[in-house]
Parts: sequence; C-alpha cells; structure tokens
Amino acid sequence: MEITVVPRGSYTLLPCSQARDETVERPTVHVPEILLEADYNAMSLRAGDIVGEAIRHNPSIVLALPTGTTPIGLYADLVRRHRDEGLSLSAVTTFNLDEYVGIAVDDPDGYHGFMRSHLFDHVDIPEGAWHLPNPQATDAGAEVRRYEGLIDASGGIDLAILGVGANGHLAFNEPGDTLTGPTHVAALADDTWLRNFPSLAPRLKDEPELRARYSTAYTVGIGTILRARKILVLASGMAKASILASAVRGAITPRNPASFLQLHPDVTFILDEAAGSWVHYTA
Ligand code: GLP
Repeated sequence: MEITVVPRGSYTLLPCSQARDETVERPTVHVPEILLEADYNAMSLRAGDIVGEAIRHNPSIVLALPTGTTPIGLYADLVRRHRDEGLSLSAVTTFNLDEYVGIAVDDPDGYHGFMRSHLFDHVDIPEGAWHLPNPQATDAGAEVRRYEGLIDASGGIDLAILGVGANGHLAFNEPGDTLTGPTHVAALADDTWLRNFPSLAPRLKDEPELRARYSTAYTVGIGTILRARKILVLASGMAKASILASAVRGAITPRNPASFLQLHPDVTFILDEAAGSWVHYTA
C-alpha cells in the first residue's frame, strides 16, 4: 500500500471529453485541510478551539449547527468555555441544519430539544437568535423559503459546522441521483432512519407503519452549505473512514453528498484517528 500525504491546494477539473474545449467552464476542486486527532474527546476540544476562536474574533458570527452524536462534545466544550472562560454567544446567530417534518417542537427525538439541552439552555445566546426549521409549519413550501430567506437576511453563514452520515449525507442531503441546492424537504434514507431511531428499529417487523414516522425532514441544501464562508466538518469512528476518504479524494458525485465539499475553497475536517484512518492512503 502506498502512503501519500495530501497537500492542501486546489486544481481544476478537466472532464476528458472537454479537456481541450476552452469555452467550457470548469469547476475548481479543492483539497481540504485535515486535522487528525487521537480520539473523540480530542476532536471535540480541537473543534471547541476553532469555534471558540471564531466567535471571539467575530462576536456576531452566523453559525450553521449540526445535530447527531458527533457535535455533543463540541457543544459541551463551548458551554464550558462560556461558563469558565467568559466566552459570550450573546451576539451570535445560529441556523440548525435540519429538523424532522411534522413532529412536536418538544418531541424528545427532535432537534429543538437536542439543541436546548446540549447548548442553547447553557449559554447566553438570546431566544430569537437561534433558528431551526419549524416542524409544525402548515405549508412546507413556504417554510423552506422562509428558512432560506432568514439565512440570507442574516448576511449568510460565516461558519457551517457539519457532521457526516456513514452514507455520506450532509444534514439530510441523502445519497441519490441528484442533490438539491436550497433548503427543502428530504426523505430519510433507510440506513439513516435505522441509525437515528435505534429504539424503533427492532419494532419495524411487527409494526412496519412505524417507518413513516420521522421519514421526512427539513434540511438546508447542498447549495446553502456551499455558500457558507467557511466549513468545519467533524467525524469520529471507523464507520465513517471509507466515506470520508471518498469525500476527500474520490469523484464528486451525488452518491456521496460529502464529496461536494471539494467544490468549497475553505473546508477543514477534524477527524479522530479511526475516522481519518483512510484519508491519506491510496490502494
Ligand atoms: C444525522 C443528521 C446529520 C448528522 C448525521 C451524523 O442524521 N441529520 O446532520 O450530521 O446524521 O450523525 P452522527 O453524528 O450521529 O453520526
């Protein structure tokens, strides 16, 4: 096996069929910064350093925030910095990446409650400065336009913090034949649903109708994500190693939504040793 270190930089995609056609517009592909940390805890602290510094540098920063297991350590570190080091989030604006359609705002599996219990209830961010899609909106089309409009009205996302699904999804932009640019309603892939609802999964055999619960979600789109000024991706665990290697070094394809991050000029991955174990290797 050959070991290569990927230098940070960028290059221009030359589709074979169009390589000599100077009139074809070619997307620039970027190699991201990759920070490897020993374990989940170290990954979280490194993320806390970067996000905490970004907030101190720009107190009115606009953040996009993820849910899932990955950012829990980062949020705990931001709470600690607020409590022990005087980090203030009083001028910060946040937009969560996603929320399930149709659930109650206080649903224990929903993301409003998740964000309150892990971050918002423990820092000084004002009510009204943090945003999630409204799961109870009566008109989903109006809700996605409202959310995208709010992001634009805030001046756009300065720093988007992302997790990655083991299938490459970003927010709920699931692998498929196409990806959607703006905020939209997405259907959860089966593997995402099974992973996100481990307590419901064993009941599916006898109650197949359960699969319809939490089956769709509001999600910012790939275009919304790529318009962020900077992107920080966190991942830990061996289950993400393969998809991350493809995302960083493989083809840009909607079959791996995370591969679209190659189109952004300022992406930093913070990976623990397991998640990052394949990114510097070629077979
Ligand atoms: C979830 C969320 C994503 C999250 C991802 C990874 O379904 N919609 O925003 O980044 O899956 O989850 P985890 O961090 O638990 O691996």
